[in-house]
Amino acid sequence: HRAAIGNPWALPAGSPRPRRLRTTPAMRRLVAETRLHPADLILPMFVKEGAQDPIALQSMPGVQQHTLDSLVKAAREAVDAGVGGLMIFGVPEKRDEIGSGGTDPDGILNVALSRLRDELGDDTVLMSDLCLDEFTSHGHCGVLDAQGRVDNDATLERYADMGVAQAEAGAHLVGPSGMMDGQVAVIRRALDDASHTDVGILAYAAKYASAAYGPFREAVESTLQGDRRTYQQDSANRTEALREVQLDLDEGADLVMVKPALPYLDIVRDVREMSDVPVVAYQISGEMAMIEAAAANGWIDRDAMVLEMLTSIKRAGAQAVLTYYATEVAQRLHGV
Ligand code: PBG
Repeated sequence: HRAAIGNPWALPAGSPRPRRLRTTPAMRRLVAETRLHPADLILPMFVKEGAQDPIALQSMPGVQQHTLDSLVKAAREAVDAGVGGLMIFGVPEKRDEIGSGGTDPDGILNVALSRLRDELGDDTVLMSDLCLDEFTSHGHCGVLDAQGRVDNDATLERYADMGVAQAEAGAHLVGPSGMMDGQVAVIRRALDDASHTDVGILAYAAKYASAAYGPFREAVESTLQGDRRTYQQDSANRTEALREVQLDLDEGADLVMVKPALPYLDIVRDVREMSDVPVVAYQISGEMAMIEAAAANGWIDRDAMVLEMLTSIKRAGAQAVLTYYATEVAQRLHGV
């Protein structure tokens, strides 16, 4: 009888028991292979021209369109929490065909960069979105040709000017996110010609046309009709991403980014393996919105989910992560 002879299914003496390393929180902490650190987190922030008060975003609870003053305050809070850097997006009052606001030193993004650099100096890494979509009346990331198609090389000329304007305003890193061919090389050349050899390029190297950018487009009040599929990548493609990354590396990218993060963790891993520069991933607005919406329904454990997703992005191979949760998580990691 079983009871008499003990459990016949008991593992033989000396059998492997991996659960030993999971027995206590302290043990699990000791053997954790991936750790989140505040310095790995980059906070994307929005600043709205002419805003009198910060405006809360429906689809991204806790995220705001800042005024210049509230931007500085929130930036200081992020820096005090130890976040690794800030990525700034501008929401202009006026837009035009060529996105003039992006290259105007008095345009909202450039004004915000100057203000932040004055206030924060080198206490953080100040990054700027280098793209025309927030500034164009049609909402595309580049300028259009006579047929209404995004004109790659005409856009490069605008990006060169925009990169220099952002460097002059105080960006440490510019972040070309428009997926135009040759953008990294052109921006590098323009920065060097303007003696901004210290300003680096965080290249959105593998950026996919995602269904999850919706909340961001609310945040920047995007006017886009249609989609960005002639420049952003098709989610079906992996080899193409590696080619895009290799081109950006060859063109002089100082860091390369994969975006979005969660649906593309395989790409993050691939890029980590091929890249000789730091790899960054962007947990985009819709990734946040999915967490928040499910949590609001009581369907997932929000706080744990946030850490799980960020840990997974790092585990996949990202050295740093752009996340709207940067300040919150940095504070939690400090036990605040
Ligand atoms: C382009 C840009 C976008 C995002 C960052 N840079 C929007 C787009 O490609 O449509 C999206 C970020 C997010 O969804 O959180 N300027």
